[in-house]
Amino acid sequence: MAIRTIFKDEDPVLRKRTRTITDFNARISELLDDMRDTMEEANGLGLAAPQVGILRKAAIIVDGEEIVELLNPELIDSEGEVGMDEGCLSFPGKYGYVRRPQKVTVKAQDRNGNPFTREFSDLSARAACHEIDHLNGILFVDLVEEPPEDSEEDAKGRNNPDGELI
Ligand code: NI
Repeated sequence: MAIRTIFKDEDPVLRKRTRTITDFNARISELLDDMRDTMEEANGLGLAAPQVGILRKAAIIVDGEEIVELLNPELIDSEGEVGMDEGCLSFPGKYGYVRRPQKVTVKAQDRNGNPFTREFSDLSARAACHEIDHLNGILFVDLVEEPPEDSEEDAKGRNNPDGELI
C-alpha cells in the first residue's frame, strides 16, 4: 500500500472521462488500497481514481466508520436537498456552497465485481455525488453558488468550520 500523489486544481486529468472497470484484478485492488491510504493521510471523506491520475470508474467514500468502495457507480435515486460548504482534496483551501441531495441510492460493484445497491444520506450522500461527478470530469467548483440569504452560514459559509474534503 502506498500514498499516491493527488492531482490538483485544473490539472487536465481531472476533466477527463473515466473508463468502466471490467477486469477486477489485483491492480484494481492495489489502486483501492492506495486510494484508502491517500484519502486517510489527507483527512478526506472521499477520493476518486482520476484524482490520483487513474482514468477508471473507481471511488471510495467514508460512511460513518466505514470506507465504501464504489466501482462503476451509478446514481439511481435521490431525495431531498441540502446546501452547505464543500471542499475537495484536489482544491486545497477552497470551499464553496453546493446543493446536493439529502439521500441517494447508488448502484455499484465491489472490488470483486459483485454488484450491490446502497443508500447514503447527509455527508456520505454528498460524498457519493461528489465522487461520481469526479468520474465524469465534473468538479465541485462547477457547482458552487451563493448561499441563500436566509442561510445560517455567513459569506464564508461555515456551518462546517473545518471544511469537508471530498
Ligand atoms: Ni473531490
